[in-house]
Amino acid sequence: MRDQLQLQINNASESMNSGFSDYYQNMVDYFHQNPDKNLSYSAFSNRTERATKALTSEQEAIFYIVAYGWQHHQSMQHLLSETLDFTSNAQENIRVVDYGCGQGVATLAFMDHLAKKGVAQQSSLEIHLIEPSRVSLDIAKLLIERLAIAHGIKVSIHCQQRTLGSALLPLNSECVETFHLLSNVIDIEAVQIALPNIAKQIKSCTGKNFLLATCPKYANAQIGFRILHQEIDFADNFYDECWDMTYQMYRVIQATWNQHTSTQRMAMMPWTSS
Ligand SMILES: C[S@@+](CC[C@H](N)C(=O)[O-])C[C@H]1O[C@@H](n2cnc3c(N)ncnc32)[C@H](O)[C@@H]1O
Repeated sequence: MRDQLQLQINNASESMNSGFSDYYQNMVDYFHQNPDKNLSYSAFSNRTERATKALTSEQEAIFYIVAYGWQHHQSMQHLLSETLDFTSNAQENIRVVDYGCGQGVATLAFMDHLAKKGVAQQSSLEIHLIEPSRVSLDIAKLLIERLAIAHGIKVSIHCQQRTLGSALLPLNSECVETFHLLSNVIDIEAVQIALPNIAKQIKSCTGKNFLLATCPKYANAQIGFRILHQEIDFADNFYDECWDMTYQMYRVIQATWNQHTSTQRMAMMPWTSS
Protein backbone atom coordinates (compact mmCIF):
# COMPACT_ATOMS: atom_id res chain seq x y z
CA MET A 1 0.00 0.00 0.00
CA ARG A 2 2.78 2.45 0.94
CA ASP A 3 4.55 1.92 -2.40
CA GLN A 4 1.28 2.51 -4.22
CA LEU A 5 0.71 5.80 -2.39
CA GLN A 6 4.26 6.93 -3.04
CA LEU A 7 3.73 6.14 -6.71
CA GLN A 8 0.54 8.22 -6.72
CA ILE A 9 2.38 11.17 -5.13
CA ASN A 10 5.17 10.81 -7.66
CA ASN A 11 2.78 10.61 -10.63
CA ALA A 12 0.78 13.59 -9.39
CA SER A 13 3.97 15.61 -8.95
CA GLU A 14 4.89 14.86 -12.56
CA SER A 15 1.53 16.22 -13.70
CA MET A 16 2.54 19.73 -12.56
CA ASN A 17 2.95 21.70 -15.76
CA SER A 18 1.07 24.90 -15.05
CA GLY A 19 1.30 24.92 -11.26
CA PHE A 20 0.19 23.41 -7.96
CA SER A 21 -3.40 23.28 -9.29
CA ASP A 22 -2.37 20.30 -11.48
CA TYR A 23 -1.13 18.39 -8.41
CA TYR A 24 -4.27 19.21 -6.46
CA GLN A 25 -6.54 18.16 -9.34
CA ASN A 26 -4.65 14.89 -9.82
CA MET A 27 -4.85 14.12 -6.07
CA VAL A 28 -8.57 14.89 -5.93
CA ASP A 29 -9.20 12.55 -8.89
CA TYR A 30 -7.25 9.78 -7.13
CA PHE A 31 -9.01 10.42 -3.80
CA HIS A 32 -12.45 10.45 -5.38
CA GLN A 33 -11.86 7.27 -7.36
CA ASN A 34 -10.34 5.29 -4.47
CA PRO A 35 -12.60 5.74 -1.43
CA ASP A 36 -11.47 2.39 0.05
CA LYS A 37 -7.83 3.61 0.24
CA ASN A 38 -8.58 6.90 1.99
CA LEU A 39 -8.78 7.99 5.59
CA SER A 40 -12.10 9.31 6.82
CA TYR A 41 -12.33 12.92 7.98
CA SER A 42 -12.79 11.85 11.61
CA ALA A 43 -9.86 9.38 11.55
CA PHE A 44 -7.56 12.06 10.07
CA SER A 45 -8.83 14.83 12.27
CA ASN A 46 -8.62 12.88 15.53
CA ARG A 47 -5.12 11.52 14.92
CA THR A 48 -3.64 14.83 13.72
CA GLU A 49 -5.68 17.13 15.98
CA ARG A 50 -7.19 18.87 12.96
CA ALA A 51 -3.95 18.87 10.96
CA THR A 52 -1.87 20.58 13.63
CA LYS A 53 0.32 17.55 14.47
CA ALA A 54 3.13 16.29 12.24
CA LEU A 55 1.84 13.84 9.61
CA THR A 56 3.15 10.28 9.84
CA SER A 57 2.15 8.57 6.57
CA GLU A 58 1.57 9.11 2.85
CA GLN A 59 -2.10 8.33 3.42
CA GLU A 60 -2.35 11.31 5.80
CA ALA A 61 -0.38 13.47 3.38
CA ILE A 62 -2.82 12.72 0.54
CA PHE A 63 -5.83 13.42 2.75
CA TYR A 64 -4.28 16.71 3.86
CA ILE A 65 -3.67 17.97 0.31
CA VAL A 66 -7.17 17.07 -0.83
CA ALA A 67 -8.85 18.59 2.23
CA TYR A 68 -6.73 21.72 2.80
CA GLY A 69 -4.17 22.14 0.01
CA TRP A 70 -6.14 24.41 -2.30
CA GLN A 71 -7.38 26.68 0.49
CA HIS A 72 -3.85 27.19 1.81
CA HIS A 73 -2.43 27.80 -1.66
CA GLN A 74 -5.14 30.33 -2.55
CA SER A 75 -4.76 32.25 0.74
CA MET A 76 -1.00 32.66 0.31
CA GLN A 77 -1.41 33.71 -3.33
CA HIS A 78 -4.06 36.23 -2.34
CA LEU A 79 -1.84 37.75 0.35
CA LEU A 80 1.08 37.97 -2.07
CA SER A 81 -0.96 39.69 -4.77
CA GLU A 82 -2.60 42.11 -2.32
CA THR A 83 0.61 43.27 -0.67
CA LEU A 84 3.62 42.88 -2.96
CA ASP A 85 4.62 44.09 -6.38
CA PHE A 86 6.94 41.54 -7.93
CA THR A 87 7.22 43.13 -11.35
CA SER A 88 8.99 46.30 -10.28
CA ASN A 89 12.54 45.83 -9.03
CA ALA A 90 12.39 42.04 -9.14
CA GLN A 91 15.35 40.61 -7.21
CA GLU A 92 17.24 37.63 -8.51
CA ASN A 93 18.49 36.01 -5.33
CA ILE A 94 15.59 35.48 -3.01
CA ARG A 95 15.56 33.53 0.24
CA VAL A 96 12.32 31.85 1.28
CA VAL A 97 11.89 30.40 4.77
CA ASP A 98 8.77 28.25 5.14
CA TYR A 99 8.05 27.71 8.85
CA GLY A 100 6.12 24.49 9.58
CA CYS A 101 6.04 24.00 5.82
CA GLY A 102 4.14 20.69 5.77
CA GLN A 103 4.15 19.63 2.12
CA GLY A 104 5.43 23.04 1.02
CA VAL A 105 2.12 24.53 -0.13
CA ALA A 106 3.06 28.12 0.80
CA THR A 107 6.38 27.91 -1.07
CA LEU A 108 4.59 26.37 -4.07
CA ALA A 109 2.10 29.27 -4.00
CA PHE A 110 5.05 31.68 -3.89
CA MET A 111 6.62 30.00 -6.94
CA ASP A 112 3.29 30.01 -8.82
CA HIS A 113 3.02 33.71 -8.01
CA LEU A 114 6.46 34.44 -9.51
CA ALA A 115 5.38 32.56 -12.65
CA LYS A 116 2.10 34.49 -12.82
CA LYS A 117 4.03 37.76 -12.61
CA GLY A 118 6.41 36.67 -15.40
CA VAL A 119 9.56 36.80 -13.24
CA ALA A 120 10.06 33.07 -12.58
CA GLN A 121 12.92 32.53 -15.01
CA GLN A 122 15.00 35.39 -13.66
CA SER A 123 14.55 34.22 -10.06
CA SER A 124 16.92 32.12 -8.02
CA LEU A 125 15.45 30.86 -4.77
CA GLU A 126 17.31 29.67 -1.69
CA ILE A 127 14.54 27.77 0.07
CA HIS A 128 14.61 26.73 3.73
CA LEU A 129 11.96 24.25 4.84
CA ILE A 130 11.40 23.71 8.56
CA GLU A 131 9.01 20.93 9.49
CA PRO A 132 8.93 18.10 12.08
CA SER A 133 7.30 15.52 9.77
CA ARG A 134 9.74 13.53 7.61
CA VAL A 135 6.93 12.37 5.28
CA SER A 136 5.73 15.97 4.68
CA LEU A 137 9.26 17.31 4.28
CA ASP A 138 10.16 14.70 1.63
CA ILE A 139 7.00 15.49 -0.35
CA ALA A 140 7.63 19.25 -0.05
CA LYS A 141 11.13 18.82 -1.50
CA LEU A 142 9.84 16.65 -4.36
CA LEU A 143 7.05 19.09 -5.27
CA ILE A 144 9.28 22.17 -5.11
CA GLU A 145 11.89 20.50 -7.32
CA ARG A 146 9.24 19.51 -9.87
CA LEU A 147 7.54 22.92 -9.90
CA ALA A 148 10.91 24.64 -10.24
CA ILE A 149 11.49 22.67 -13.46
CA ALA A 150 7.98 23.49 -14.75
CA HIS A 151 8.40 27.24 -14.11
CA GLY A 152 12.12 27.45 -14.94
CA ILE A 153 13.06 28.73 -11.47
CA LYS A 154 16.54 28.00 -10.08
CA VAL A 155 16.23 26.58 -6.57
CA SER A 156 18.42 25.29 -3.78
CA ILE A 157 16.51 23.52 -1.04
CA HIS A 158 17.63 23.20 2.58
CA CYS A 159 15.56 21.03 4.93
CA GLN A 160 15.44 21.01 8.71
CA GLN A 161 13.38 18.19 10.14
CA ARG A 162 12.58 19.81 13.46
CA THR A 163 10.10 21.97 15.32
CA LEU A 164 10.41 25.76 15.36
CA GLY A 165 11.47 25.57 19.01
CA SER A 166 14.85 24.20 17.92
CA ALA A 167 15.12 25.77 14.45
CA LEU A 168 18.32 27.60 13.57
CA LEU A 169 17.81 30.08 10.79
CA PRO A 170 20.64 30.03 8.26
CA LEU A 171 20.51 33.68 7.30
CA ASN A 172 24.09 34.35 6.32
CA SER A 173 24.10 33.94 2.52
CA GLU A 174 24.08 36.57 -0.19
CA CYS A 175 20.32 37.01 -0.62
CA VAL A 176 19.10 40.60 -0.60
CA GLU A 177 15.47 39.73 0.05
CA THR A 178 13.96 37.19 2.43
CA PHE A 179 10.36 36.03 2.53
CA HIS A 180 9.26 34.44 5.82
CA LEU A 181 6.16 32.28 5.23
CA LEU A 182 3.92 31.23 8.12
CA SER A 183 1.02 29.44 6.48
CA ASN A 184 -1.56 27.96 8.84
CA VAL A 185 0.84 27.46 11.73
CA ILE A 186 0.43 30.39 14.09
CA ASP A 187 -2.64 28.82 15.70
CA ILE A 188 -0.40 26.00 17.05
CA GLU A 189 0.61 26.56 20.68
CA ALA A 190 4.16 25.19 20.30
CA VAL A 191 4.68 27.54 17.33
CA GLN A 192 3.38 30.49 19.36
CA ILE A 193 5.84 29.62 22.16
CA ALA A 194 8.69 29.53 19.61
CA LEU A 195 7.80 32.89 17.98
CA PRO A 196 9.89 35.13 20.32
CA ASN A 197 13.02 33.09 19.56
CA ILE A 198 12.27 33.07 15.83
CA ALA A 199 11.68 36.84 15.90
CA LYS A 200 15.03 37.39 17.63
CA GLN A 201 16.80 35.42 14.88
CA ILE A 202 15.06 37.02 11.91
CA LYS A 203 15.54 40.55 13.22
CA SER A 204 19.20 40.31 12.21
CA CYS A 205 18.49 38.96 8.73
CA THR A 206 20.15 41.57 6.51
CA GLY A 207 18.46 43.11 3.48
CA LYS A 208 14.77 43.48 2.78
CA ASN A 209 12.45 41.18 4.70
CA PHE A 210 8.78 40.35 4.29
CA LEU A 211 6.86 38.18 6.75
CA LEU A 212 3.64 36.73 5.41
CA ALA A 213 1.22 34.90 7.71
CA THR A 214 -2.18 33.38 6.92
CA CYS A 215 -4.65 31.36 9.01
CA PRO A 216 -8.42 30.90 9.22
CA LYS A 217 -9.83 33.46 11.64
CA TYR A 218 -10.52 31.49 14.78
CA ALA A 219 -9.63 31.97 18.43
CA ASN A 220 -6.24 30.16 18.46
CA ALA A 221 -5.12 31.98 15.33
CA GLN A 222 -6.03 35.35 16.86
CA ILE A 223 -3.65 34.58 19.75
CA GLY A 224 -0.91 33.79 17.21
CA PHE A 225 -1.44 37.05 15.31
CA ARG A 226 -1.31 39.00 18.59
CA ILE A 227 2.05 37.41 19.47
CA LEU A 228 3.30 38.09 15.96
CA HIS A 229 2.49 41.80 16.30
CA GLN A 230 4.24 41.92 19.68
CA GLU A 231 7.37 40.09 18.57
CA ILE A 232 7.85 41.59 15.09
CA ASP A 233 7.74 45.10 16.56
CA PHE A 234 10.70 46.04 14.34
CA ALA A 235 8.56 45.85 11.16
CA ASP A 236 8.12 49.14 9.28
CA ASN A 237 4.38 48.65 9.02
CA PHE A 238 1.66 46.03 9.26
CA TYR A 239 -0.84 44.97 6.67
CA ASP A 240 -3.40 42.88 8.57
CA GLU A 241 -6.83 42.07 7.20
CA CYS A 242 -9.54 39.43 7.15
CA TRP A 243 -10.85 38.22 3.83
CA ASP A 244 -13.88 36.11 3.05
CA MET A 245 -12.34 33.85 0.45
CA THR A 246 -14.54 31.79 -1.83
CA TYR A 247 -13.16 29.05 -4.02
CA GLN A 248 -14.27 25.99 -5.87
CA MET A 249 -12.73 23.04 -4.04
CA TYR A 250 -13.27 19.36 -3.33
CA ARG A 251 -15.07 18.74 -0.03
CA VAL A 252 -13.93 15.50 1.55
CA ILE A 253 -17.01 14.99 3.72
CA GLN A 254 -19.53 15.42 0.91
CA ALA A 255 -17.17 13.74 -1.61
CA THR A 256 -17.96 16.41 -4.18
CA TRP A 257 -16.70 19.73 -5.57
CA ASN A 258 -18.49 22.85 -4.39
CA GLN A 259 -17.95 26.47 -3.51
CA HIS A 260 -16.43 27.01 -0.13
CA THR A 261 -16.14 30.31 1.74
CA SER A 262 -13.85 30.80 4.72
CA THR A 263 -12.67 33.87 6.57
CA GLN A 264 -8.90 34.08 6.45
CA ARG A 265 -6.78 36.47 8.45
CA MET A 266 -3.65 37.57 6.62
CA ALA A 267 -0.71 39.67 7.72
CA MET A 268 2.27 41.07 5.85
CA MET A 269 5.09 42.80 7.73
CA PRO A 270 8.04 44.35 5.86
CA TRP A 271 11.33 45.61 7.32
CA THR A 272 14.89 46.28 6.22
CA SER A 273 17.93 45.36 8.23
CA SER A 274 21.49 46.50 7.52
C1 LIG B 1 -1.94 23.02 9.25
S1 LIG B 1 -0.37 22.41 8.84
C2 LIG B 1 0.26 23.71 7.79
C3 LIG B 1 1.26 23.19 6.80
C4 LIG B 1 1.64 24.18 5.69
N1 LIG B 1 2.32 25.33 6.22
C5 LIG B 1 0.43 24.56 4.88
O1 LIG B 1 0.06 25.74 4.85
O2 LIG B 1 -0.16 23.68 4.26
C6 LIG B 1 0.54 22.64 10.33
C7 LIG B 1 2.00 22.20 10.20
O3 LIG B 1 2.73 22.61 11.36
C8 LIG B 1 3.66 21.59 11.67
N2 LIG B 1 4.01 21.75 13.10
C9 LIG B 1 3.37 21.33 14.20
N3 LIG B 1 4.02 21.70 15.31
C10 LIG B 1 5.12 22.39 14.89
C11 LIG B 1 6.21 23.03 15.56
N4 LIG B 1 6.29 23.05 16.90
N5 LIG B 1 7.15 23.62 14.82
C12 LIG B 1 7.08 23.63 13.48
N6 LIG B 1 6.07 23.04 12.78
C13 LIG B 1 5.10 22.44 13.49
C14 LIG B 1 2.90 20.32 11.37
O4 LIG B 1 3.77 19.22 11.23
C15 LIG B 1 2.17 20.70 10.09
O5 LIG B 1 2.93 20.42 8.97
